[in-house]
Amino acid sequence: MTKPVIWITRSLSAATLNRARRDYEVIWDPADAPGSAEDIIAMSAKVDGIIPCHSEHFSADVVARLDPRLRIVANHSVGVDHCDLPALRAKGITVTNTPGVLSDATAELAMMLMLGAARHAVAGDRIMRSGAWDFWSPAFLVGKQVTGARLGIIGMGGVGRAFARKARGFDMEIHYHNRSRLSEADEAGATYHENLDDLLAVSDFLSLHCPATPETTGLMNADRLAKLPQGCVIVNTARGNLIDEAALLQAVESGHVGAAGLDCFVTEPGGNPAFAQHENIMMMPHVGSATVKTRDAMGFKALDNLDAFFRGDTPPDKL
Ligand code: DGY
Repeated sequence: MTKPVIWITRSLSAATLNRARRDYEVIWDPADAPGSAEDIIAMSAKVDGIIPCHSEHFSADVVARLDPRLRIVANHSVGVDHCDLPALRAKGITVTNTPGVLSDATAELAMMLMLGAARHAVAGDRIMRSGAWDFWSPAFLVGKQVTGARLGIIGMGGVGRAFARKARGFDMEIHYHNRSRLSEADEAGATYHENLDDLLAVSDFLSLHCPATPETTGLMNADRLAKLPQGCVIVNTARGNLIDEAALLQAVESGHVGAAGLDCFVTEPGGNPAFAQHENIMMMPHVGSATVKTRDAMGFKALDNLDAFFRGDTPPDKL
């Protein structure tokens, strides 16, 4: 039996590539460049399925020009804001993602950014590396204590809940806002705020874990940032466009926001150079899920979805 042909757009883990090559005819370019709109359109005539990352954009325009040969887009990501889902569905293309398997890795990075932002990790590291540490005082690099503080979480899906579990280890008081209230077991003592503004008012630390949708774009705008307690620390490991970056910059410059830890930016790759002027903004280049274990798990989940599809079953993570 001939194997389905798939395009793997980026450098997935070696274990993923090996398994993919065992079961499929794989097209993969080790140059690891993001696939352009033209690449996606051209490749759709050569393959039955694609495993893209969030770096490949399936806009309505691109989807309109896809060849009918392409039948499944098995994303190597939980976020699917790079895919126009209604357009893909209307074209009869199955779309899947990789929920669950990246929750712990992303929550770990959120924890690193929260602690690093709260405790001046960027300034401390710069001082040590530059050989500029020639002074100590009890007033030196005094940060904000995480232990026992109130943590607001927006979005209590897999990553939000994993972050809450880790934050409980720091005795944080967990508050959350979500489209719907969690079960008592999933809440595990966290306080639900149906109204986002009520959550903001009690968030000494705020971490974003909701998907990027037209409704959540610019969610943390100037008005909402103003509702946070003075000196709040904001963490974003979800998507850059959840935050109005100009408003965040202003809030950091005024001191209303005490610090920020960001893994996601409106412009990626590249980020926001204006943030680099502020050592109380700790930044990482969108690597929340970048651990060996999680990359393997994401790749295997994408392949599980493809396998189910080509067997004629409904893929477990069909959207
Ligand atoms: C995701 O899975 O959505 C991560 O941001 C990596 O793409």
